[in-house]
Amino acid sequence: MKNMIKQYETSAIPPLGGGGARSISVLSPATVANVVCGFDILGFALNNPTDEFTVSLSNEVGVQIINNDDFNLPTNPEINVSGAALLAMLEECTDVKGFTLISKKNIKPGSGIGSSAASAAGPVVAANVLLNNRFSKSDLVRFAMFGEKVASGVKHADNIAPAIYGGVTLIRSIFPLDIISIDAPPLHVTVVHPQIEVRTADARQILKQNVLLKDAIKQWGNIAGLVAGLIQHNYDLIGRSLEDVIIEPVRSILIPGFNEVKQKCKDAGALGGGISGSGPSIFMLSKDAATAKAVEAVMKDVYNRIGLDYQTHLTTINQEGVKVV
Ligand code: HSE
Repeated sequence: MKNMIKQYETSAIPPLGGGGARSISVLSPATVANVVCGFDILGFALNNPTDEFTVSLSNEVGVQIINNDDFNLPTNPEINVSGAALLAMLEECTDVKGFTLISKKNIKPGSGIGSSAASAAGPVVAANVLLNNRFSKSDLVRFAMFGEKVASGVKHADNIAPAIYGGVTLIRSIFPLDIISIDAPPLHVTVVHPQIEVRTADARQILKQNVLLKDAIKQWGNIAGLVAGLIQHNYDLIGRSLEDVIIEPVRSILIPGFNEVKQKCKDAGALGGGISGSGPSIFMLSKDAATAKAVEAVMKDVYNRIGLDYQTHLTTINQEGVKVV
């Protein structure tokens, strides 16, 4: 990473302090990655749940982490998602000794709604405010990807980009980063999190490394259709493009009740949906709040009958991304 270090002339270093503040708190949103057909390239941010982070400038070298929740996440910054992201940022700040982070997670790790991305994105956005926004959003995504790598072993930005930019984002490329914000019509999002844990690293491991050309053609037709449908605010096109012929058939077997939830939610009026990120959460998009609520009832009904604990979230797309509070 050394070769990426941005050298500031001493006179050019923006002053520290975020308008005099030495401590900044943020809410960092959950996100839905892949959006069914866009594996590793599409994602959107949710208005809830959110994690809470407070970052302060420190006179100690490195990153100190204080956990303010019951998840028992590691406090060694090199193996902590937030810590790894902040360390990547520190490497490009010759004038900063360190940061202290207070972390309160509300998004359960391993839920499939971007818990690790929220952990990576929130702290770097807060730290950047402390540093008078010297880094661009794209730089912050680059730092946060070091955190995502700690979590899943791979750098991917389809949760991090929407967490930082808000709204729906397309990651056309990660090396070099090319992030495109996509205008979307109002959408209501219903998420069910069956209480099993699917590790992203495992859910990536089981994927096939080769795809048939006929499947690839279907998939890129759907991705293009979804992006066009979002931009044109065409709900029907969005709905019929929410189809994944490559990843979902493999991963859905890890999620009890997946096919039943998906079919019954569509029957209840959802536009469509599928696995959120690498699962086990399932998300559905609806045009209006009443349909989203009916979809939630269907999800609850399926898991009550299967006898599996679950949590649901009824929300909308977060247009702002990580928010300073
Ligand atoms: N695109 C990623 C995956 C998101 O599906 O593995 C999960 O972090």
